[in-house]
Amino acid sequence: MLQAKKVSIIGAGNVGATVCYWLAMRKSCREIVMIDLVEGLAKGKALDIAQATSPEGSHTLMHASSDYTDIQNSDIVVITAGVPRKPGMSRDDLLMINAKIVKQIIEQVREYAPAAIVITVTNPLDATTYTALKVGGYPRNQVIGMAGILDSSRMETLISEKLGFGYGQVTASVMGGHGDDMVPLSRYSSVNGVALTDLLNDLEIEEIINKTRHGGAEIVGYMGTSAYYAPANSTVKMIEAILGDKHAIFPCATLLDGEYGYKDTVNGVPVVLGANGIEKIVELPLNLSEQRLFANSVNSVNSLLDTLRNNNFFEEKKCEK
Ligand code: APR
Repeated sequence: MLQAKKVSIIGAGNVGATVCYWLAMRKSCREIVMIDLVEGLAKGKALDIAQATSPEGSHTLMHASSDYTDIQNSDIVVITAGVPRKPGMSRDDLLMINAKIVKQIIEQVREYAPAAIVITVTNPLDATTYTALKVGGYPRNQVIGMAGILDSSRMETLISEKLGFGYGQVTASVMGGHGDDMVPLSRYSSVNGVALTDLLNDLEIEEIINKTRHGGAEIVGYMGTSAYYAPANSTVKMIEAILGDKHAIFPCATLLDGEYGYKDTVNGVPVVLGANGIEKIVELPLNLSEQRLFANSVNSVNSLLDTLRNNNFFEEKKCEK
């Protein structure tokens, strides 16, 4: 699938470079621009990835820069720039540092690639997605947070490990914010069509839900920095759905405007991804306990947004296409 498309990745760290590598190896687009404050890092990684393209028969062109004029005409811009977690930190502990970084970056993106669909990856994800939307003055279809696919893929892995079968056949669904209050939905999870609730008992499912919630922290505990292979994989799934106008359903962070009973906040819900970014928001009929969990998640994100509001992060501008 080599498409005449351009993707720019802001942040050439672990997540950003892994997204680039994956896109180049899968021939998902024609051109990739990787931007980092540390220009040498972006240049070195871009060169390294470029030198891996030939054996794969990939025609994807790699370009590294610290100059935002190079992102012009991008179809998609992915923001992975920021500070990752250290052991003992929650994603929320990154709020002030990373929201400032995303604010600076989105102003450049808005200026040089105003029509690009923006995918945010920087944590705390829901708050940085809201920052990008508000600071950039974007319509909500154009800025999408990556997290639900990652949380769902963590849950899927845990389910197949617990069962000892069904590897690669599990579909799990995780709604909510990308934090400890995320909402793994066992009712909407299955193994090749067989309901999870018919395969595992309540206690086993609860154990999987807890491990899913703390899946990212477990990895930070082992490596001293946050995960990047699975986050990059989830980002690539979103990029390919948008570039290919797939109209595929994925859980993603989006601005809610009355859906699920909430307004003016970002949270993770199932959306349809296509050429316009978010083509549609899907409203699942949640039961009472799921509604309560989702409300908790919305409250957690809202308390981060309140902190940002008190720091005047959200001066609105209109995006000129
Ligand atoms: N502009 C451009 N690049 C920046 C900026 C900026 N203003 N600030 C930081 N960077 C770059 C850093 O130079 C670094 O190369 O962002 C990169 C971040 O890379 P890593 O430190 O390796 O972090 P990574 O693991 O990729 O995580 C990035 O994604 O999953 C989230 O929680 C994670 O918020 C973190 C982000």
